[in-house]
Order: sequence, then C-alpha cells, then structure tokens
Amino acid sequence: MKKILEYDEVTSTNDVCFDLIENGERDGTAVVALSQTKGRGRQGRFWISPKNEGLYLSFILRKPKEKLSQLVPLTLALAVHRCVKEYSYNASIKWPNDVLLGEKKVAGCLVESKKDLLVAGIGINLNNAADSFTKEMGATSIKAACRKTPDPVKFRKKLFKEFESLFDELEKNGTGEIIKELRENCSTIGKSASFVSGGQIIEAAAKDIDSLGGLIIERPDGKIEVLYTGEISDGS
Ligand code: BTN
Repeated sequence: MKKILEYDEVTSTNDVCFDLIENGERDGTAVVALSQTKGRGRQGRFWISPKNEGLYLSFILRKPKEKLSQLVPLTLALAVHRCVKEYSYNASIKWPNDVLLGEKKVAGCLVESKKDLLVAGIGINLNNAADSFTKEMGATSIKAACRKTPDPVKFRKKLFKEFESLFDELEKNGTGEIIKELRENCSTIGKSASFVSGGQIIEAAAKDIDSLGGLIIERPDGKIEVLYTGEISDGS
C-alpha cells in the first residue's frame, strides 16, 4: 500500500475514498477508521461500526481488465479469510464476498466504482461482544467465536500483505491459484440455498466456482447456471 490514511471517525471509509478520488487520488491509497457513523454494506444494509471493536478500511484500486473485476470481491474475501483462519480452523468463504466463522458472518466486502478506479471496502468484526449482534443478524466477531482478541494493527498489516500478494498474483499469473484457494475454502459449494438469478430468487445447489469466480449452480430440474456477482455499484 503506497499510502495509509488513518481517521478516528468517518461516515464511511468508502465515502472518504470517493472524496479523495474526486480530488485526484489514485490507486494504492488505503483509508482506515476507528469508527464509522454510516458504515454501509451491500444492498443498502447498515454496517455496525463501533469504535475499536472492528476493522473498517477501504482501498483505492485500479480496475482490473474487463472480466477480472468480478473477481475483486472474492479476492478480498480470500485475503480476509487468510487472516481470520489464523484464529480458527472454522473460517470459510461464503460466495460471493463474506467470511464466516462456523455459520456466522465475521466479515464482508463492498466494492464500488468511481471513474476508472474501484473502492474496495472491508469490515471485519474483531473484538465485538457476542451480544452486539441479534440472532437475526447471523453475525459474530473473532473474539465472540474464538475467545481471542486480535490486535487491530497487526491484523491490518497482515491483511494489507495478503491483499497485495493476491492482487500481484492476479495481475502476473491470472486467476488459477486464486480460484484453487477459493474452491478449497468456499463453504457455499456443496450446499443448497436461495440464489438471485435474473432478479428472481431460486432454490439451487451450489456445485463449484468457475475460472472467473462465477458460482456454478444446479437447479432442481438439473439445469446448470453460472451466477456472477455483478455487484460493483457505481459511486460516481
Ligand atoms: C457487506 O457484507 O454487506 C459488506 C460490508 C462492508 C463494510 C465495510 S466497513 C468499511 C467500508 N466502509 C463502508 O461503509 N462499508 C465498508
């Protein structure tokens, strides 16, 4: 990471990145905040961001070549997974971009775009108390699930390292190794669940991940389909 900007409190680290881009900032900059007042998740959800309990950060990235953009959220999830698995063998990736501990979500990624750049936001529940999350939220923290208290600065350093090494791998050698590691650690594969396809919710069995990070699913009638995240919303 070329530059790391640290803040005490922001609305959303993704929004800070958008403002920076508006003022000429380029890729290689990361924004980290101790708390967020308007942390957001995918599909307009709120991301609870209390001070010193979680890690809230966003990176500015160059958009990868056309079809590789859809691999960005999964690659981020893989970087987070490499860090979370140090605390538990029970860590997995839920396609397309969540990290779970057991069945509960411990981290999520929100990738948005502005001009020719991407803003990749990551939220990780590190030291939140177990009762910070309602049952309906289906969430946990590393502390609540593993009874360990990760140091946010050490965690962040490892995350930057993993993230840089994965994006180097993607640029230099393509998708092969990344897809392999995703397949090995994706708990969605082998499960039946509800998926959104063409705006409709369908029941299907997740079979595999294809070479571009798409999820291969099988409908009850045997029809095979590939789902792509297609969830990089435009922040401009
Ligand atoms: C999700 O799982 O829905 C994605 C959650 C992403 C949350 C992070 S926290 C840092 C960055 N700033 C935000 O406002 N959102 C992301």
